Amino acid sequence: MVETTGSARTLAVDIGGSGIKVIVLDEAGEPLTERSRMETPQPPKPDAVLAVIAQLAAGQGEFDRVSVGFPGVVRNGVTYTAVNLDPAWMEFDLAAALQERLGKPVRVANDADMQGMGAIAGNGVELVVTLGTGFGSALFVNGKLVPNLEMGHHPFRKGETYEQQLRRTALDDIGQKRWNRRLEKAIGTLGRLFNYDCLYIGGGEAKKVSLELPANVKIVPNISGLLGGIALWRD
Ligand code: BGC
Repeated sequence: MVETTGSARTLAVDIGGSGIKVIVLDEAGEPLTERSRMETPQPPKPDAVLAVIAQLAAGQGEFDRVSVGFPGVVRNGVTYTAVNLDPAWMEFDLAAALQERLGKPVRVANDADMQGMGAIAGNGVELVVTLGTGFGSALFVNGKLVPNLEMGHHPFRKGETYEQQLRRTALDDIGQKRWNRRLEKAIGTLGRLFNYDCLYIGGGEAKKVSLELPANVKIVPNISGLLGGIALWRD
């Protein structure tokens, strides 16, 4: 058993399609270290990704437990999809493999779910979307997570999914102005579907959002992807 009261230090890890980031959090979820980042190895197979995490972890000092945000469906520490990483992640026991590597207990959640935990207020229906290599999504009702929402792979417009229309490569292809118009349409359809009290937009490309946003739509800093890691240890 890990001591959950006192001063447990949590290594939070965010595995992304382009970068892997880590930071150490105190018991209250406040950063104790500087965030560090390395490029996601290519091809992003489990062994290579685990090696990068171990290298980043070694530069972060002491920690007692580990939280990981993973860009795919995760259940009980096992990864089931990873469309922006590698097919080798299908049914991979990431929690067990990383635990063995780092010698500390590990919990894993979907990256958007973890980001959401670091961003939401805990009241009403709160939807989180993340804009980066992929399109992440997370839904909370009074702070309770509906895990692995995966809105990104649902049809959005013109025969394409939210992810195909709004991921980083789409932004690069069509430019910021058109991408923002698409995002505005997505905010409209998601609003009509979820009737959320609040929508949070995070992820590496959230800084490119230049729309005039309704009062119930907020941009969250990308660091929330790591800060949400503390919530994985609140049983
Ligand atoms: C994955 C999601 C993930 C999102 C952002 C999508 O392609 O299916 O699980 O949250 O990318 O990384």
